[in-house]
Amino acid sequence: QTEYIKLDPEHMDKAALKKGALLLRQGEVVAFPTETVYGLGANALDPAGVDKIFLAKGRPGDNPLIVHVAHPDQLKPLVTEISSGAYALMERFWPGPLTLIFPKSTLVPSNVTGGLNTVALRMPGHPVALALLQEAGVPVAAPSANLSGKPSPTVGEHVWTDLMGKIPLILDGGETQYGVESTVLDLTTTPPMILRPGGVTLEEIQEVIGEVRQDPALKANQPPRSPGMKYTHYAPEAEVLIMEGSEQEITSLIVNHYQRLVKTGQKIALLVSEETARELEHQLVPDYLEILGPRKNLSLVAHRLFSALRHADFHGVDLILIEAFSDQGLGAAVMNRMRKAAGNKVLKS
Ligand code: TXA
Ligand code: MG
Repeated sequence: QTEYIKLDPEHMDKAALKKGALLLRQGEVVAFPTETVYGLGANALDPAGVDKIFLAKGRPGDNPLIVHVAHPDQLKPLVTEISSGAYALMERFWPGPLTLIFPKSTLVPSNVTGGLNTVALRMPGHPVALALLQEAGVPVAAPSANLSGKPSPTVGEHVWTDLMGKIPLILDGGETQYGVESTVLDLTTTPPMILRPGGVTLEEIQEVIGEVRQDPALKANQPPRSPGMKYTHYAPEAEVLIMEGSEQEITSLIVNHYQRLVKTGQKIALLVSEETARELEHQLVPDYLEILGPRKNLSLVAHRLFSALRHADFHGVDLILIEAFSDQGLGAAVMNRMRKAAGNKVLKS
């Protein structure tokens, strides 16, 4: 049985938070909102509780979890070394969507880190997440609260769809703000390396610590360093194809492919920018069209992306044609998730 409790982040129900915190301390799992996506948490210091996360999600055991803390001070016992760069990053971006990788202490169970000698840590910015962490009084290991492989949940209903009957409690705090996960930054290499683009951009990190590299595997088709990045991810049931072209040619590219593919009898969803939707009006009457946002508003596109992929599945779509956006700034995270959802399948002009 899964209990589902709606929480107003402005006036939080203390009893619900206490219930969640107690479950965590008792070695159970609880789903809760963060400012990026929903997380499925367990007491990070309780290996048996952590095992239940892998079980509920169907997550491979070698894919390490992010440990969430209520305050930077909670970090010290979990790591063996905190560099000056790490302090500067925490000062600037915590609470917020930046996960930092440190050498781990012996206190952190090995199932949290997938056997690695490093641990990923972040202090989330969502009021419900922070209140739950404070009330629990323990660090909380939490991956995204989706079934392994599915798009991450950005509303409580997504968690319900994936994990109903498998976990005791879902705390629903409404829509998440960012819609893409945190940036994962490895501080154990010189220079530090972005393993997963996310809510905090490369440019913002560079402003604080100078030189930063991106995992080269993010560009090429190589096995990535972040274990989780090698698995199929963010994939809806529908096949996803990315449509890539300049602003001048993107509309005709979409029209051509749509008209060709619609003849196969598949149910097709178009996920496009506001600008493209406007141009398409004169040329196509698609069965299913969802606007991700204006091309320049990448935070809105990020906010809507996973939800749009899930909507298409909900409506029994066979094929999603999705417009590529800029990969600058927050666009790096948007395009990384989009490419993974598409299994790198791109149609160009
Ligand atoms: O925004 C987020 O980060 C959300 C919310 C719930 O906080 N969490 C999340 O967790 O996205 P998850 O498990 O879906 O993704 C964690 C990523 C995976 O790609 C994993 O491989 C990587 O972080 N990771 C965790 N620990 C690591 C480590 N020690 N070394 C390298 N990569 C690590
Ligand atoms: Mg995930």
